[in-house]
Amino acid sequence: MTDTQLAIVILAAGQGTRMRSSLPKVLHPIGGRPLVEHVLSTARALEAEHVRVVVRHERDRVAAAVDDGGADLGIVDQDEIPGTGRAVEVALRQLPDDFAGDVLVLSADVPLLQRGELADLVAQHRASGAAATLLSAHLDDPTGYGRVIRDADGAVERIVEQRDAAPDEADVHEINAGVYVFRATALRAHIGALGSANAQGERYLTDVVGLLRAAGDRVAATVAPDPRAALGVNDRVQLAEAAAILNARIVRRWQREGVTVIDPATTWIDEAVTLAPDVTILPGTQLLRATVVATGAVIGPDTTLVDCEVGEDATVRRTDATLAVIGARASVGPWSYLRPGTHLGADGKIGTFVETKNARIGDGSKVPHLSYVGDAEVGVGANIGAGTIVANYDGVSKHRTEVGDHVRTGSHNVFVAPVRIGDGAYTGAGTVVRKDVPPGSLALLAAPQRNIEGWVGRNRPGTTAAHAAERANQGGQEEDD
Ligand code: UD1
Ligand code: CA
Repeated sequence: MTDTQLAIVILAAGQGTRMRSSLPKVLHPIGGRPLVEHVLSTARALEAEHVRVVVRHERDRVAAAVDDGGADLGIVDQDEIPGTGRAVEVALRQLPDDFAGDVLVLSADVPLLQRGELADLVAQHRASGAAATLLSAHLDDPTGYGRVIRDADGAVERIVEQRDAAPDEADVHEINAGVYVFRATALRAHIGALGSANAQGERYLTDVVGLLRAAGDRVAATVAPDPRAALGVNDRVQLAEAAAILNARIVRRWQREGVTVIDPATTWIDEAVTLAPDVTILPGTQLLRATVVATGAVIGPDTTLVDCEVGEDATVRRTDATLAVIGARASVGPWSYLRPGTHLGADGKIGTFVETKNARIGDGSKVPHLSYVGDAEVGVGANIGAGTIVANYDGVSKHRTEVGDHVRTGSHNVFVAPVRIGDGAYTGAGTVVRKDVPPGSLALLAAPQRNIEGWVGRNRPGTTAAHAAERANQGGQEEDD
């Protein structure tokens, strides 16, 4: 056990030019959360005495994303002097003057490191007594990263950025992950001495390593066991790589918890999703944000659920749904579009080419085919006929429709809201329901059908239709004989 205090500094002030984005780099999401949030929540798990996040580019947006109200959290503004070294310098000033513990520096664009890896780094730093310990990784392709230069004895001598590297230095495959632990006193002693005589004209934090060495202090490096965890996100290629690595982790975690994932490569699961054992996920499925799926449910193929709740043994096929609740044993899809406020009861059905919005559809009720149901409440055990449109919008305002329990409506109806169809009522095919239908009534809107006999033969002579009609009429006559 050690009683050395820990302060964590998260570097999030850079613009992220290589992203070519109006969104600050550290706010780009993977797994449904901004990069900086991943780093912050890992930092939080270390239970440090102080956490400081350094911001500058789009500082209000970044600050808003990280400010979770924690008493130990401080947001620090970097000034106009650029560089990771300057960022740490301003953060140090926001720690108590007498802080003499260790400072763990994290980069907001290195999102995949986990609590255990960072805890090990801190533990090894403390055990070795080095003034600083950095996390390194061996990469097949070290392009873009700072290289860790070791001396003849294998001790860390300095870090050189790719742009400043001599050819033999650029050949080094051990890279700096941008994550370090410093003894606070050693860091304070040198951070003010950083120059900016480098390709970018910035004060590099990495130069502290060389300064410590020159002062006779020792710098250690811990090699990350999984080099992929050290991935830094500087452009959109790396963003996609990081997202894929994180997703693979999440998918594997759920598989080990008893979820069947048929095709991990085309299944995307956000970090905040919750799945029960014996859920089955078919190819091409995205479970996003705070989606929750209960046991026995089958999701997919080709389905996107955002903030949805799916009940036990429900099936959801080829569906796009946001903020929808799907009851136990209910069936959704294929080709359904569930918009926010959809609530399908147990054993209910929303079928093929059906769109719903702000609609509560009761237990056992079905909207099987080709319909739009918006701003509506449907009772239990009802059946909405194929091709029904709820006309909820009068061009100015939205109105509500109520359909009672065990109602049977005919095909191709329009319910013109506001309107109420009482319990146990029926409507005929093609009805435009403009007036309330009392319970148990049949609503009809049917003009008598008129058949004009022989019209096709007279008006479309010689067509295939006319010939078919002729044959049918002759056949009919023969039978009549
Ligand atoms: C940095 C390291 C490099 C390492 C790599 C790992 C330096 C000089 N180089 O390079 O050795 O291999 O990370 O991913 O540190 N930031 C600030 N203020 C600034 C500049 C940057 O807070 O003035 C923040 C950025 O928002 C980012 C992090 O620091 O989160 C790293 O900055 P970035 O410009 O991406 O550094 P790299 O070139 O990747
Ligand atoms: Ca970077």
